[in-house]
Amino acid sequence: MIRFEQVTKRYPDGTTAVNDLSFEVAEGELVTLVGPSGCGKTTTMKMVNRLIEPTSGRILLDGEDIAAADPVRLRRRIGYVIQQVGLFPHRTVLDNTATVPRLLGRPRKAVRERAAELLDLVGLDPAVYGDRYPDQLSGGQRQRVGVARALAADPPVLLMDEPFGAVDPVVRERLQNEFLKLQATLRKTVLFVTHDLEEAVRLGDRIAVYGHGTIEQFDAPAAVLGAPATEYVAGFVGADRGLKRLSVTPVEPGDLERPPVVRLDDPLGTAVRRLTAEGARWAVVLDEAGRLHGWLPADAARAGAAAAGAGTGTDAGAGTRTDAGAGTRADAGAGAQARTGPGAGTETGAGPGAGAEHGTAGQRHPHGHGPGAGTVRQHTRRMEAWLPVGSSLKQAFATMLQHDAGWIAVLDGDHFLGVLTPARLHEALRRSIGADANALPRTEVSVDTVPDR
Ligand SMILES: Nc1ncnc2c1ncn2[C@@H]1O[C@H](COP(=O)(O)OP(=O)(O)OP(=O)(O)O)[C@@H](O)[C@H]1O
Ligand SMILES: [Mg+2]
Repeated sequence: MIRFEQVTKRYPDGTTAVNDLSFEVAEGELVTLVGPSGCGKTTTMKMVNRLIEPTSGRILLDGEDIAAADPVRLRRRIGYVIQQVGLFPHRTVLDNTATVPRLLGRPRKAVRERAAELLDLVGLDPAVYGDRYPDQLSGGQRQRVGVARALAADPPVLLMDEPFGAVDPVVRERLQNEFLKLQATLRKTVLFVTHDLEEAVRLGDRIAVYGHGTIEQFDAPAAVLGAPATEYVAGFVGADRGLKRLSVTPVEPGDLERPPVVRLDDPLGTAVRRLTAEGARWAVVLDEAGRLHGWLPADAARAGAAAAGAGTGTDAGAGTRTDAGAGTRADAGAGAQARTGPGAGTETGAGPGAGAEHGTAGQRHPHGHGPGAGTVRQHTRRMEAWLPVGSSLKQAFATMLQHDAGWIAVLDGDHFLGVLTPARLHEALRRSIGADANALPRTEVSVDTVPDR
């Protein structure tokens, strides 16, 4: 879609801003350009819409050399969010947003409607903000207007030069999330400049890491973090790159361990046989509908089965309690926030499901002959440590730590997929840097716990 071929830009004073740059951005791809101040990011961007002409080399848009294109018509296909937003101070928010369609001579009413729609899209109520002037907005709101304005002519290509640069980290993260959602539906071809590595990694399908006027590495975020191409890139991404990589690597079904699975109403004897056959120390417990309910420790199951079998009703101690400790906390953190399915809510929250579960345990017949006696239900421990498939390894790790859990369940909606253990998490992290993983020494791909050199 956008293709740079050996592009060099030398300014009249002799400064080489960009030197022999070659790369390609696919249609619908979001590429972040990241690097220190003065490394040539803005220059790269402005050459795409011909605000700056290259000294040598070619830039192709959809296979056409842009040098042959009419600059005005070219710019209609390219939305541009300039560094420092650059709203017209004497124009209202709505008029700012409508700038390009108006220049294109579209009918006034349609232009205003479109502008209002776009403001809505970027999270600004046009009825509230439409008639304000830029100096009556917060920094984050101004940046939203900048994005809305760039989208106004519905261009297939977007150039965004530090569009979220002028706001605090919290607002920036919110804008990033909104933009990611927007991009998921709009699928624009985007060149996005930032000097913030975290931002580059969060947003980019691929990242171009700039040195001085050249690209040192052009790769997927996980690859840049996992296998920096040069010393320079390694330095730029930092010694904690292993940790950063956790946040760009999703949990996939193939990463999971499959422990034995038992059902709430299975007899304990059945559960014990299954645990023994698989040599497992615990099993996952699902309800009748196949939703995650909790887990069953093997020792508790054995003790319970022995007690039920003997019919003496000896309390099996720890095994009969519905869990204690970290696992039962209701503040499930990342897991709770990411929770989507109604079933999941019932199992893990302090809701009716959880209450009933405690009730069952509390009313357990003292001699082990009551309803449900001798079944898995009685010995099931509730589980808070879970998260949806596709969550990042960072979320997974955070959930493990928060619940002090040696493993966490991974769900697809309500459906139990498997469990992630620290060892599997490490494997997933290795997978994230692709086929080259096997060629790398193990120390290179483990989570960094010691500073580099
Ligand atoms: N008109 C110009 N004349 C001479 N040199 C220029 C001109 N514009 C930019 N430069 C130089 O070109 C280099 C690249 O500038 P550019 O604006 O592309 O950097 P950048 O990566 O966008 O930096 P920042 O992160 O600070 O925005 C810098 O050294 C800059 O001083
Ligand atoms: Mg710049």
